[in-house]
Amino acid sequence: MNWDETGPDTDERLDERLVQADADGEDTAVEAALRPKDLDEFVGQEKVREQLDLVLKAARARGATADHVLLSGAPGLGKTTLSMIIAAEMGAPIRITSGPAIQHAGDLAAILSSLQEGEVLFLDEIHRMSRPAEEMLYMAMEDFRVDVIVGKGPGATAIPLELPPFTLVGATTRAGLLPPPLRDRFGFTGHMEFYAPTELERVVHRSARLLDVEIDADGAAEIAGRSRGTPRIANRLLRRVRDYAQVKADGRIDRPVAAAALGVYEVDARGLDRLDRAVLGALLKLFGGGPVGLSTLAVAVGEERETVEEVAEPFLVREGLLARTPRGRVATPAAWAHLGLVPPQQGGKGQQGLFGA
Ligand SMILES: Nc1ncnc2c1ncn2[C@@H]1O[C@H](COP(=O)(O)OP(=O)(O)O)[C@@H](O)[C@H]1O
Ligand SMILES: [Mg+2]
Repeated sequence: MNWDETGPDTDERLDERLVQADADGEDTAVEAALRPKDLDEFVGQEKVREQLDLVLKAARARGATADHVLLSGAPGLGKTTLSMIIAAEMGAPIRITSGPAIQHAGDLAAILSSLQEGEVLFLDEIHRMSRPAEEMLYMAMEDFRVDVIVGKGPGATAIPLELPPFTLVGATTRAGLLPPPLRDRFGFTGHMEFYAPTELERVVHRSARLLDVEIDADGAAEIAGRSRGTPRIANRLLRRVRDYAQVKADGRIDRPVAAAALGVYEVDARGLDRLDRAVLGALLKLFGGGPVGLSTLAVAVGEERETVEEVAEPFLVREGLLARTPRGRVATPAAWAHLGLVPPQQGGKGQQGLFGA
């Protein structure tokens, strides 16, 4: 394989704080070891898998290079893994790079012109590519051609360069941010969904087998239930539970061991971590459940606005614990219940918010 290492991407950094990542980079190594190698091993995502299977089989039958593929979905759902599977299924080498790594069109030209025929180019975080690079990519995707600009100023000339046919696999956490001309140039778009608990249980069992960890069905269910629908988080929690089981128990994971371990790491029964609970707690206890502005809420928990908005809120919103309204952030009744608090207007026992309703 051909690696263009760009280090862990931003999306991965974002959810890293869920469970402190191992300082020595064990995380990245283990993650790579746990990646399914082919479509059959890839758990869940039935739709995307079925569609992709057809795209790849048809291309193979034609003896052609597969169409460009766009994968969209939240961090940790398997986009990088799928890109590698696409290459493996096509028997093609893969080159890995990312939008932020390509700042100049020249960077992209260098990569494109060194591709082999049929190679898969994985472009992670494709929505963060620079505009000039993006425009070069349009032509490369459509005509397998780039114009290389030689020289500067009035003397600059564009030299057309033919490219071998290749398959671009783009990944993005925000398909909505892609300009339509770029989106339209992908022959196939796969939307990755959050995983059902039973699917995450299969991920946990599979990873436990690979890590040579003994786990029973209830232990796997406990971990799956706290993994926010995300395989990367399931794998990470499994490793932390394994540590706990080795030190505090006999190495085997069952439900009590999993629950106790995740308690130590402050991941609660619903998968909320410390930051999530801090945000929710502030919203309920200081602001009577809102509405309160994002900046005020961020100051109250001592975090950056962006951290609250991009790291904590998406999950809280998805869980139906918090709503974003034009007037500010508002807690739902489920939020009060989850933190075991009584909304002020009902019981009067809950703390009256400073800016309360
Ligand atoms: N469908 C799946 N089945 C099994 N493991 C998965 C699946 N999707 C993701 N994983 C695991 O989760 C981790 C993160 O996946 P990755 O492809 O890096 O996500 P993304 O690129 O979308 O952020 C990988 O270690 C991989 O082993
Ligand atoms: Mg990735």
